[in-house]
Amino acid sequence: MRPFKNRDIISIKDFTREEIDYILEKSNEMEVHYKSDTPSMLLAGKILGSLFFEPSTRTRLSFESAMHKLGGRVISVSNPEFSSAAKGENLSDTISCIQSYCDVIVIRHKLEGSSMLAAEVSNVPIICGGSGTKEHPTQALLDLLTIKNEFEKIDGLKIGLAGDLKYGRTVKSLAYALSLYNNIELYFISPPLLKMRDDVLKSLNDSGIRYHEYENVEPILSKLDVLYATRIQKERFPDPSEYQKVSGSYRFDKKLFERLKPKDTFIIMHPLPRVNEIGYEVDKMPYARYFKQAYYGVLVRMALLALVLGKI
Ligand code: NCD
Repeated sequence: MRPFKNRDIISIKDFTREEIDYILEKSNEMEVHYKSDTPSMLLAGKILGSLFFEPSTRTRLSFESAMHKLGGRVISVSNPEFSSAAKGENLSDTISCIQSYCDVIVIRHKLEGSSMLAAEVSNVPIICGGSGTKEHPTQALLDLLTIKNEFEKIDGLKIGLAGDLKYGRTVKSLAYALSLYNNIELYFISPPLLKMRDDVLKSLNDSGIRYHEYENVEPILSKLDVLYATRIQKERFPDPSEYQKVSGSYRFDKKLFERLKPKDTFIIMHPLPRVNEIGYEVDKMPYARYFKQAYYGVLVRMALLALVLGKI
């Protein structure tokens, strides 16, 4: 394993399976600090710079909570309209300055490659909190932690990734991460307009993972261990009329699950926010794990911050 200290976390593709398994193990060990009434002092004296140039609730707040839980502090830009980006400052200048104010930076930005660019100019570790339509490495890690803790393994599972596979970044990072495990079977479920992009399929082909493409979940739901649903990324469509064509084109509701009889151990995940892909009545069914996923996000981010700051 390469050392984690000072490492940037830009893409899930930068990690080996051994490294990912180690991060998941350390994430579970963070639960004692999370639950303790007195914050751990593991990251005392350290400052997280939290730079979110795109909307975020869970990613930003769970990173900030993770830092506080480990005794560190946070400075943040959560509304780019009030930062110098609104005056025309470029990302590279922003990062060149912010790195002097903190020990680690988490950044979310709509541009592909934004985290990579930040890492090139920064002397402190950069963690990608979502960039463009392709990368969301920390979400993939918390998704894997959810699966691992649920099934006590990741190998051999049948996992459906459903919804906006074209513009969604969580599904891409998760598919790459799963390609490191053995005997995984992936099912990509989406309307034709939102299919997984060819370049992603090509690189999954190269990794040897088996996948199948479907337009709806009916034929395969009873085989799945996990159904991972996603929101249609309305804000990323270059053409609003294209969005109109697919808006509301899929929905997973209680009736569907009652009719299609999933396995007893089946779970449904979602990175959130949901709009109307999963009916609210599904929250009370035994399959829902999306709020648990959000909880695991804090544990994973506690582990990552401690690792890149050299405290584990
Ligand atoms: C996702 C994102 O930002 O890509 N949100 C998250 O981090 N949980 C998913 C989304 O916005 O739909």
